[in-house]
Amino acid sequence: MIGLFDSGSGGLTILAAIRSAMPDMDILYLGDHANAPYGHRSNAQILDWTQSGVSALFDRGASVVILACNTAAAIALRTLQQSWLANAYPDRRVLGVLVPMVEAVTGQPWHAENTRSDHDDTVILFATAKTIQSRAYRDEVAKRAPGVRLIEQACPGLVDAIEGGAGARPLKGLVEGYVAEALDKAGGPAPSAVLGCTHFPLVEPMFRAALPAPTQLYGQPELVARALVDYRRRHASRFAAGTGTLRLLTTGDPEALKTVAGLPGGLPPFERLV
Ligand code: DGL
Repeated sequence: MIGLFDSGSGGLTILAAIRSAMPDMDILYLGDHANAPYGHRSNAQILDWTQSGVSALFDRGASVVILACNTAAAIALRTLQQSWLANAYPDRRVLGVLVPMVEAVTGQPWHAENTRSDHDDTVILFATAKTIQSRAYRDEVAKRAPGVRLIEQACPGLVDAIEGGAGARPLKGLVEGYVAEALDKAGGPAPSAVLGCTHFPLVEPMFRAALPAPTQLYGQPELVARALVDYRRRHASRFAAGTGTLRLLTTGDPEALKTVAGLPGGLPPFERLV
């Protein structure tokens, strides 16, 4: 069984893509709705909550946990992998969601860190303020493709609005505002854009409509699912044969989660983490 962790409901976009790529995979999802959104929290809080969430998933049987949250991955992944996992859960693995995106934007495999790609596009990154402050995308893209011009656009309030069940009008207003700001910074239509927050695919049609038609949107859920298919092939022993079971856990109030806009269909109700 694999575990997926997000600050809230955004990781369900990654979950949907993983289920469609690997229908037999048993999945346990945990949304830390009690503490969401993470986008403006301190690094120490994000690390602490992410570590607790990952532990909860391991303790319930997950062999591999994916941080299905760019903010948690940008702030906590490296520390968890380098300073915690080997002592706490030596036989388990934690993965993030940034690597497949950086690979797509730079056209370089992650481990080819020392080879330079000749990609020189302008790419808009829409993400939480925290993900942008972490410089995770900026630094990893710059190492591999120094010619890529990354326009970073923080989108404060958008995760709160999605989690809070805001209607289409206010959501569209926020998205249009952030797209306009980003295009202004870019100085014209950018060839591509990244939704670097797992909540944003829930309002992807609004981004699509606000961006100029030729702008290519990288699809994080699909790219992460594809990378996991490959990881599973290379680490088959970490993945017991499954039957496609799915449970959704939350640190928050399951009753309050029925209003989130744009969620993929066919999901079981959230259960409270106890
Ligand atoms: N889905 C999380 C991400 O990918 C949202 C972060 C938040 O809670 O603000 O960044």
